Amino acid sequence: MSERLEIRLTVNGAPLACAVGQTVASALLANSSYLLRLSPNGQTPRGAFCMMGACQECAIQIDGGIRRACQTEVRDGMRVELRGAADDRG
Ligand code: FES
Repeated sequence: MSERLEIRLTVNGAPLACAVGQTVASALLANSSYLLRLSPNGQTPRGAFCMMGACQECAIQIDGGIRRACQTEVRDGMRVELRGAADDRG
């Protein structure tokens, strides 16, 4: 039996399994989701950059509010929306 506890969240409505203690950004990166959103002005692709809460590049919709994905720990049932970002996995 695995020691790793599993959490399920949804990303744009699709299920994503991740581990207890991960941040939303690390869970997305581990799942090869690098494009988080488009910039509001130039519509340029944005993704996690500093991973320490400073750059704001990872600000996305989490449970209905804008939050920094690199500073938000995953929890079961969490809803993540990557607005304006195409699913770049695979
Ligand atoms: S990656 Fe810079 S604030 Fe999250």
